[in-house]
Amino acid sequence: MRTLTIRRPDDWHVHLRDGAMLQAVAPATARQFARAIVMPNLRPPITTTAAARTYRERIQAALRAAGGDALASGFTPLMTAYLTETIDPADLERGFDEGVLTAVKLYPAGATTNSDAGVRDIGAITRVLVTLERIGMPLLIHGEVTDSDIDIFDREAVFIERVLAPLLARHPGLKVVLEHITTSDAVDFVRSGPANLAATITPHHLHINRNAIFAGGLRPDLYCLPVAKRELHRLALRAAATSGNPKFFLGTDSAPHERHAKESACGCAGIYNAPVALESYATVFEAENALDRLEAFASEHGPRFYGLPLNTGTVTLERVPVTVPARLHGNDGAGEAVELVPFHAGETLAWRVP
Ligand code: DOR
Ligand code: ZN
Repeated sequence: MRTLTIRRPDDWHVHLRDGAMLQAVAPATARQFARAIVMPNLRPPITTTAAARTYRERIQAALRAAGGDALASGFTPLMTAYLTETIDPADLERGFDEGVLTAVKLYPAGATTNSDAGVRDIGAITRVLVTLERIGMPLLIHGEVTDSDIDIFDREAVFIERVLAPLLARHPGLKVVLEHITTSDAVDFVRSGPANLAATITPHHLHINRNAIFAGGLRPDLYCLPVAKRELHRLALRAAATSGNPKFFLGTDSAPHERHAKESACGCAGIYNAPVALESYATVFEAENALDRLEAFASEHGPRFYGLPLNTGTVTLERVPVTVPARLHGNDGAGEAVELVPFHAGETLAWRVP
């Protein structure tokens, strides 16, 4: 059997949710990753250091309940704050200094799940950006404009031109991660930008283009935001992820919603890939003849950008075909079942993480 041993990876973008869903999904992330950047788009959103601290405790408690101390102590949730126009920059700075907060997330209002409290006017957050720039705290960006007259497939490219480029020009020292990039425009912009600009790439945007959402009928499980784009963009993302360029790193954007919320008249955006994340990335890197670059993408570029130490443990992937279940049933421990459809449901992947 062929195996591939790499330094233990981190997930630089994940949604762990709260309550029964947290209990159901957090173990999958903690099994594969040593650390993860936990997104703050709960309802209500995490906007203070105090809220991030108690959310972190709930994550650790959920892991302890699911897998005992070993699972909980082997995983570090890296917390983020949800940027609003009224957020307190002094609280963010304290949270960063105290090691509670790792980064701040910018959602343009209305761009995605639970983003109504996000930013409408970029000019209103100048004081926060000045603080982040001064203290070296990363700004993580959902890069889509929300204007209804902009075609949904153009929202990322227009955001780069109208919002991101001017923002970086005003704050040249700000550390920025353009999250879950989906276009060749984003790849080019990040690649040619300064060293303080990087991007995460999801497994699903490496696997699917926009045709997949409509293949044989409407496929709600492949609907996420930013929505998958044309094939030429997927190919640009695969080239970027497997290039060895340190500006691109792993961020799954695993975003679980219960099956009934996905398969409904107005289905939620989000793809739940955490249970098969590494397997999914490994399939891409193998197809691109770049398995020797998986470790850098998954385990080195992210910590170097964030200024954090590399993990010391390893994980071994085995080249054994595994069929991904059509459905997963999480349990919150109190008997409440959560039904989820994982990414690659029903498909067979070539790699397995034992
Ligand atoms: O598809 C998505 N789902 N994109 C996001 O930006 C948010 C996420 C979620 O929280 O469900
Ligand atoms: Zn996300």
